[in-house]
Amino acid sequence: MTSTLDSRLSAELEQFRRDGVYKRLNFLDSPQAPRVTMEGRGEVIVLSSNNYLGLANEPSVVAAGKAALDRYGAGTASVRFICGTFTVHRSLEAACARLVGTAASLSFVSCWNANEAVPGTLLGEADIVISDQLNHASIIDGIRLAKAITKCQTAVYQHADLSDLEEKLRAARDRRTRMVITDGIFSMEGAIAKLPDLAAICRKYSAILVVDDSHATGVLGPNGRGTAEHFGMVGEVDIITSTLGKALGGAAGGFVAGSEAVCDYLTQRARPQLFSNALPPTVAASSLAAIEFLEHHPERVTALRENARYFRERLLAAGFKPLPGETPIIPVILGETAKAIEMSSLLLERGVFVTGFGFPVVPQGQARIRCQISAAHTRADLDQAMDAITAVGRKLALV
Ligand SMILES: Cc1ncc(COP(=O)(O)O)c(C=O)c1O
Repeated sequence: MTSTLDSRLSAELEQFRRDGVYKRLNFLDSPQAPRVTMEGRGEVIVLSSNNYLGLANEPSVVAAGKAALDRYGAGTASVRFICGTFTVHRSLEAACARLVGTAASLSFVSCWNANEAVPGTLLGEADIVISDQLNHASIIDGIRLAKAITKCQTAVYQHADLSDLEEKLRAARDRRTRMVITDGIFSMEGAIAKLPDLAAICRKYSAILVVDDSHATGVLGPNGRGTAEHFGMVGEVDIITSTLGKALGGAAGGFVAGSEAVCDYLTQRARPQLFSNALPPTVAASSLAAIEFLEHHPERVTALRENARYFRERLLAAGFKPLPGETPIIPVILGETAKAIEMSSLLLERGVFVTGFGFPVVPQGQARIRCQISAAHTRADLDQAMDAITAVGRKLALV
């Protein structure tokens, strides 16, 4: 029997299809890598993955997960504070803190959960959290939740607008704690946060600076230590959140890195951790191996940067206008959502997997395809992808 809920949802889904914004899932049947096997399509070049360093299928990372499966079994069967804490969690958390340059860190099953934990746990009614307008959805929802749970004040500043931030901070002088949250790399633009300016303003107004480095960990800085290393500011960010699901092996998981007090307090009180199982030990072990790999192979980060520079130059030479930047996230704005989806499907027909993003993920009228480059792409992968992008771009009269 079809419920009224099902009928309403089906009608809306039908509308998504008519509007050309319905997302179809593509099933992969091989490890995440520059070239994957996609069900029904065969080999496809991936320009749409967060596997920035190519560690998802790195032998030492995979082997560490297998060894952990033998040593610790399939799962934790518990939350951290009951009996879900394994020795590998401690090793992973020490490695995360070492990597990003903080005194301590605490793992979560996702960075979504980590971002949900930070404002909702660390703030109270007397406090305020101020967020960049283009921050990731997990930060936005974490703040909404914090407001509902703690009754803290919230404010949003225009994207990367330091004078707007300063105005919001000035107006919040009476608050007990002022927390400013920004993405390190903004995932839809590929832009890097202006960390030196943000840190200076936060110092001026005694605010806590939180940076979500999900797209920057393993990517920015000579050693992939993130946005702080990029600006020579390791140790100067109060709290860093990041994911284990992108450059660091790409499985899943996230962490909060900060002072001992912050991490201990979150251990005591963060609801996503108190009431949900711990990160599976296999994933913790793979992530730990990924961090150790990164620590021994800074040349991967250099290769990533070189590949991103090469691809950006090729896009420009072909007549596209990617958003300017220096990260491996390279968006090309197309306008309407349907156009981005059309370009994405035409590329897939030519064996290149690039996702199109439209409203509400990005603002109305700014739909785009977003190319993501990996250190593991060969020049042949990038050249083949460029040939397809150029051909489709011509067909759609973009170049
Ligand atoms: C900036 C940012 N923060 C948080 C997340 C969520 O990370 P996770 O997949 O670990 O939940 C993402 C993932 O897309 C992200 O881009």
